[in-house]
Amino acid sequence: MNSSGSFEGVLIVSFGGQYTHLIARRVRELNVYSEIVSYSEVSQKLIDELRPRAVILSGGPSSIYAENAPRVDSWLLELGLPVLGICYGHQLIASMIGGRVERGLGEYGKTEIEIMSMDPIFSGWNSKEIVWMSHRDYVATLPEDKAVILARSVETGYIAAFRLRNRPVYGVQFHPEVIHTPKGRRLLENFVIGIAKAQRNWVLGNIIDTIVEELRKTLPQGEKVLCAVSGGVDSTTTALLLKKAVGDRLVVVFVDHGLLREGEAEAVLNMLRNLGLNPIYIDSSKEFLRALKGVKDCEEKRRIIGELFAKIFKDIAESDKDIKWLAQGTTYPDVIESGFAPGADKIKSHHNVAGLPKWLGLKVVEPLRYLYKDEVRRIAIALGAPEDWAYRHPFPGPGLAVRIIGEVTEEKLKIVRKASKIVEEELMKTGLYRRVWQAFAVVGEDRWVGVEGDKRAVGYIVTIRIVESEDGMTADWSRVPYDVLEKIASRITREIPEVTMVTYAVTSKPPSTIEPC
Ligand code: XMP
Repeated sequence: MNSSGSFEGVLIVSFGGQYTHLIARRVRELNVYSEIVSYSEVSQKLIDELRPRAVILSGGPSSIYAENAPRVDSWLLELGLPVLGICYGHQLIASMIGGRVERGLGEYGKTEIEIMSMDPIFSGWNSKEIVWMSHRDYVATLPEDKAVILARSVETGYIAAFRLRNRPVYGVQFHPEVIHTPKGRRLLENFVIGIAKAQRNWVLGNIIDTIVEELRKTLPQGEKVLCAVSGGVDSTTTALLLKKAVGDRLVVVFVDHGLLREGEAEAVLNMLRNLGLNPIYIDSSKEFLRALKGVKDCEEKRRIIGELFAKIFKDIAESDKDIKWLAQGTTYPDVIESGFAPGADKIKSHHNVAGLPKWLGLKVVEPLRYLYKDEVRRIAIALGAPEDWAYRHPFPGPGLAVRIIGEVTEEKLKIVRKASKIVEEELMKTGLYRRVWQAFAVVGEDRWVGVEGDKRAVGYIVTIRIVESEDGMTADWSRVPYDVLEKIASRITREIPEVTMVTYAVTSKPPSTIEPC
């Protein structure tokens, strides 16, 4: 897989570390393309295809002595390409050159290191610096004829960084990609730009041109592409890129499944028309709500919604035989996560990744499959989308159906719509909206007894979920000020009489997911 076109980037080999995406993003922040592959995919053929300027070996949860520990072959170190091993990658390189890795005391969190031998990778670093560590195994010895020790931890004396004598191959025990290593970005810049001499050409204009060029190559003349737009940033940006690439051969459709937020259908239609996307508008809300009647199970709701969407696409494609393609707004984290975990449990079937039914008979094109959300947002703005809209929170394809626990009913839809609007309004007023990843209300089956005047009244419980995240893969609940929460809660119970209790969700992802179902 390679969409990089003219971009010679950095290849990041993943050993399953939780910060692998962060490494890729840090490299892209230097305006250098980066691509993640699993260690098991590394081959000479892949290197020839991708032509990376450098390779970074990520961290990972394994011990290199474990049975079936993930490894790469030593030829990777002999290509003359600059290589940087981080944490597990550092230990792996050490063991590949004959060093010894042992179980140690463990270093976790902020750790002081001392640079023993200055090297261009530490350009701009002082002789003592704070870095962020997270490891128990450590590199105990290195063959002196092959490697130079560059830095050690002050407290434990463990090797914190080394370099091979005859090649630009480095290992660092700490994590330069996390913000808790204050000079980490500088180290990555020293490696990627200073040592590997990568070109800083991953810039907006080039990215858009490359995607448009690729789309023109992929979509032959005479074939049309159907793009279902939800009004979200990903699908709308997909449509904008396609319009640039194939003009009138793009067919945009906006399906109202009746599970949208308050006022959303009109707002989306206006926005799409202003962007010149002129969508076909299909109001299928009755059909979706009928199909969901009595359905309580989350996965079943998702399946029904996905299938109904696919049926609508099929009808449109049958009415215009030139439609051969379906465009999807799949982004990079979705691609990596779904591709890397073949045996992993399905947590939720996001229907843009879970695959489309074979009977649809359309080929799939995914112009955003190499982009992170922040890159998508910047492209949207560059292509004329209003900035406020480009920074809207992600909204799941199955809409409010996944924010309603149990059966989707008119009453619950009304509650969740009104409550979510209140959450958004209050966050916008306080300027918190842009600082958080998602903020919404959830309603379920449970009830709480309330007091209305002098009477007891049994009402719904609404849960507020506000999370911070970089890409939705992991998330932390947002510590919004109590007075903002209080304002939200009191407005919800005042303005929605069916609600008698408001709760705030304080569990991160993992162990929870962001959406309740
Ligand atoms: P979870 O709930 O899995 O969500 O932590 C991670 C991110 O994905 C969004 N999400 C979905 N998006 N179809 C989508 O297009 C879905 O079925 C779906 N489920 C979750 C969620 O809003 C969050 O940003």
